[in-house]
Amino acid sequence: MRAMRQDVSNKAVTSVGEALPGTRRYTRHTIHELGQSIRERDLITYEHCRRVAIYAQRLARSMGWPRRAARDLALAGLVHDLGKTWMENSILHKDSALSKAEWHEMHRHPRIAARMLLAYGVPDELVRTVLYHHESYDGHGYPDELAGSDIPIGARLLTVVDVFDALTSARSYKSAMSLTAARDRIAAGAGTHFDPEVAAAFIHLLDTWPDFLLPVHTEPLEGPDAHSLWARHDYFPI
Ligand SMILES: [Fe+2]
Repeated sequence: MRAMRQDVSNKAVTSVGEALPGTRRYTRHTIHELGQSIRERDLITYEHCRRVAIYAQRLARSMGWPRRAARDLALAGLVHDLGKTWMENSILHKDSALSKAEWHEMHRHPRIAARMLLAYGVPDELVRTVLYHHESYDGHGYPDELAGSDIPIGARLLTVVDVFDALTSARSYKSAMSLTAARDRIAAGAGTHFDPEVAAAFIHLLDTWPDFLLPVHTEPLEGPDAHSLWARHDYFPI
């Protein structure tokens, strides 16, 4: 056991040491490790982040984003709720509506995540995408009540796929909404909650991609897929 622990820690140190902060490799490695820390804290939050990452990448590719930019957006998606790992269980796992004070606490999670990512040397653009994933196109979101094009484009994409996944997955306090009902909800929020162009692109994607919904895993994945965002599900097929 001791030998195995030694090996794991050596491996982790070696893999960080090989990549300098600021390089793409360092960023990718750091985000994946932080993603795993979400997984160890709360599987439901991690699985949500993983699906959001994949949906975000699909959406970005469908809107003509270069492959690399779409992958960077997926990395932001994978840690967009990192700040929730600092929420108390009484809030994170609450199976009824949050009180006003609890909502106030929960609303801190984008800033907490941004602070952590900055501390780890993650590039500003990616941090801003995470920080603003709860902004609303009409300026009624949080944390900074940004509106329209003041919200980074990556964050505007994440907002749509984040809400879509929250609607279509079951939680302890609600059942999963059907894909059709979730589609209608996204359409209804175009121009208010969501960037209308992004919402339209996402609806088009839903309408043209058979079996778009990703499975919801409630048990930890095992084997080689367990630690890879990409192994289990395809890249955008272009
Ligand atoms: Fe969030």
